[in-house]
Amino acid sequence: MRSLMDITDFTAAELDELMRTACDIIENRDEYSQQCRGKTLATLFYEPSTRTRLSFEAAMLELGGAVIGFSEASGASVSKGESVADTARIVDCYSDIIAMRHPLEGAPLVASVNATVPVINAGDGSHCHPTQTLADLLTIYRKRGGFCGLTVGFCGDLKYGRTVHSLISALSRYDGVKLVLISPDELRLPGYIRKDIIEKHNMPYTETSSLEDYLPSLDILYMTRIQQERFDDKAQYERLKYSYRLTAAKMTLARANMYVLHPLPRVNEISIDVDDDPRAVYFEQALNGKYMRMALILKLLASAVEDPVREVNKADIGVPMPGRHCINPKCIITREQELKPLFKTEGGVCRCAYCEQEAKQK
Ligand code: CP
Repeated sequence: MRSLMDITDFTAAELDELMRTACDIIENRDEYSQQCRGKTLATLFYEPSTRTRLSFEAAMLELGGAVIGFSEASGASVSKGESVADTARIVDCYSDIIAMRHPLEGAPLVASVNATVPVINAGDGSHCHPTQTLADLLTIYRKRGGFCGLTVGFCGDLKYGRTVHSLISALSRYDGVKLVLISPDELRLPGYIRKDIIEKHNMPYTETSSLEDYLPSLDILYMTRIQQERFDDKAQYERLKYSYRLTAAKMTLARANMYVLHPLPRVNEISIDVDDDPRAVYFEQALNGKYMRMALILKLLASAVEDPVREVNKADIGVPMPGRHCINPKCIITREQELKPLFKTEGGVCRCAYCEQEAKQK
């Protein structure tokens, strides 16, 4: 049985298969309308969401299944102190598949090792958002026919933007993708993503603070919101919140076949005068998210049928390493005291198994 924590849990071939299924769903909606009859999706959202939660719910309903869940932590027993692990064990009794969003990094991973049904990471802190990446990939695929050789610009909050981290991970699988990383200095891409993904896969990249300078060279522009809720320093947010604004006037600098994506919600980084430009595909991207989540639910439920017995093997996610500790205050391990710290070593660097930040020696 499979869960989805990180986009790299799927091979490029599996991502292609999901996109093919999503395209088939778009063409043959009726054929899928009863495929999840008798199955229940639980949506456990500890953090606000419009697109991800509602598109998961719409996806399951359109597949003929049922949906249970909560949309804010205050409505669940976490508000009485229940752990993520216990919540997962309980919801496991009532559902066939779980989608979880949580502000703490690694929380869905904790759920996945405590549940016997597939768990989907619907966004954990600033870490990953793999199902947004599924929506992004299908949108690029439907507009450009593939990924190889594209020049993709990411603009805005590259530090806290989990959708950026997941999409870069996915694009690293394809040949010849070039990246232009456009952000203020304070919101540059975290070093571990640059080192472990971009440099490891020899992806050519440029870091800049200027959108206008690089707009003419892009095939895809992925705009992002400055993530107010992730800033510890509110004054810094106030200083940076208007860093970028894409307007119809700026779009005249871009190629005729350059598409603008945004995971949404937008705040002020894309002017509404861009919306009518045929190259603005962010609303279509949100719809593609529903189709990809339908394809994902089908794939993970099929994996649970093929391999119903789930051995929880914590060694798969990491091992104890005495003397090491995670110092990320947004990691689940630093908040839930009963969790066992686990680590993994990649490229000679020891990382927390939950949030993937570099672990420190005590
Ligand atoms: N893109 C995205 O994750 O949107 P929501 O926060 O509304 O789910």
